[in-house]
Amino acid sequence: MDLTRLSEQAAERIEKFSANLNLNLDMSRTGLGIGGLLMLALVAKKISEQPDLSKIPTVGPSGMLSSYAGAIRYMKNGKEMLLEGFAKYGGKPFRIPTANHWLIIVGPKYVEEVRKAPDNVLSFLEATNDLLRVEYTLGPRIHHDPFHIPIIRSQLTRSLGVLCTDIRDEIVTAFNDELPLKGHEWSEFTALKVVQQVVCRTSNRIFVGLPLCRDPEWRALNIKHTLDVVKAGAVINLFPNFMAPFVAQFMTNVPATVNNAYKHLRPVIDERLKAVAEYGKDYPGRPNDLLSWLIDDAEGQQLDPRNLTLYMLAVNFAAIHTTSMSFTHVLFSLAANPQYIKPLREEVETIVAAEGWSKAALGKMRKIDSFLKEEQRRFGIGSLSMGRKALQDFTFSDGTFIPKGSTLSVASFAAHLDERVYKNAEAFDPFRFAEMREEEGEGVKHHFVSTNPEYLPFGHGRHACPGRFFAANELKSMLAHIVTEYDIKLADEAGGQRPANILFGGSVVPNQTAKVLFRKRVD
Ligand SMILES: *[C@@H]1O[C@H](CO)[C@@H](O)[C@H](O)[C@H]1NC(C)=O
Ligand SMILES: *[C@@H]1O[C@H](CO)[C@@H](O)[C@H](O)[C@H]1NC(C)=O
Repeated sequence: MDLTRLSEQAAERIEKFSANLNLNLDMSRTGLGIGGLLMLALVAKKISEQPDLSKIPTVGPSGMLSSYAGAIRYMKNGKEMLLEGFAKYGGKPFRIPTANHWLIIVGPKYVEEVRKAPDNVLSFLEATNDLLRVEYTLGPRIHHDPFHIPIIRSQLTRSLGVLCTDIRDEIVTAFNDELPLKGHEWSEFTALKVVQQVVCRTSNRIFVGLPLCRDPEWRALNIKHTLDVVKAGAVINLFPNFMAPFVAQFMTNVPATVNNAYKHLRPVIDERLKAVAEYGKDYPGRPNDLLSWLIDDAEGQQLDPRNLTLYMLAVNFAAIHTTSMSFTHVLFSLAANPQYIKPLREEVETIVAAEGWSKAALGKMRKIDSFLKEEQRRFGIGSLSMGRKALQDFTFSDGTFIPKGSTLSVASFAAHLDERVYKNAEAFDPFRFAEMREEEGEGVKHHFVSTNPEYLPFGHGRHACPGRFFAANELKSMLAHIVTEYDIKLADEAGGQRPANILFGGSVVPNQTAKVLFRKRVD
């Protein structure tokens, strides 16, 4: 096994991946090349304690060193390895090597047991921390004291009816600004860039309100932070845990980003804290946004303006990354299949003519809902879902033993490709969920935001994405607006082919630079 070659290959993969994502990973800044560190990591891994997973079969080589070849293959051909493992072991657990640990993959039939396991046995927070390196990328406060999460789950979700008009207003103005169109001529735009700006503005309208949500610097720093977190998480994970603090120093810029964000947010926070001190929590003119809700509930250290800034950055990360990816997938598929614009448009216009733009109106847009849901079924934000870290030994009812310290994920791709649930599961069938709603009666099961063992992009159970009701509302408003105001298509050179997704390990991301053409709608 040629270690130097292996580490070079890994470094190459990462550089290529980050170049794809326009991340411009500055290798010289790390002082030491990734390759050199990876070799250290190999040695360290060898001496560090690993849980005994010998009873769980592997995809690819399982030796101490040879598994690194598997880890590199996983970066490159993750989807293929997952499919191989799923087929070979028939949905029973198997494991995949990543650079710093083994990832156990369990089939959809284990979803309920994973969901029911208590947090002190299978931990969602610890798995998320391991994946994104939250402590280093978003700050330890976010990992150890996520008090913003219940606020997002309850207050944000409850307020959507009232906020719907603001959300729509920001979407309309943002698309106007991002798509400067002449007459009815076609113009070309980088899809992800436009989407990120619209999502960032719209989310921040609800997070911090006007005028900060439109501040170009505030937007730029939050979008940059989003990419920094993803990049840093991926790179730190190439090393064993004990090296993480060292690697993180070179990879993350949390303090600088927080300083920058703090500069923008501090005056807003001070003003609100002053108003609360003078007139009480329900002071007249109190903005109805996430920042106000956080201030309402914060206690002790949570109330410190710098720490409030950390929470706002974390919420922005969660909102911008996932929602932008989802909507970019949708734009590409719509541009590649423009025949679906008309039925979507008709649905939106009929409903809006009858009742205007409202949360209830969005709730009736079944085709819009279905289109978004179908794209998440096909791509999600990756092939895996419901990551958990075992804090104690855990045994599934079929006897599969998950030792303390190991990490597992559910093979959501397999659930989403199950022919018994999804006819022609491989096919893009944007209205399939609208049809399922018609055939099976109006339950909530097939709504975009509903989670179940057959639909896992948002996770499932008590750790399902707490922001999904907000995200769905935003995404539906965006799609409804796009189809009623614009015609869209791919460039002729694309030959009608949707830009291929980029796969990296278990992630599936849309092409970051591909363009879509827009014009003001003509008919
Ligand atoms: C902010 O939170 C950190 C812990 O995450 C704490 O050490 C610090 O004291 C807090 N800041 C203030 C001013 O309370
Ligand atoms: C993304 O799309 C652009 C433009 O179509 C293309 O040049 C580029 O190669 C694509 N990137 C990847 C990684 O597929």
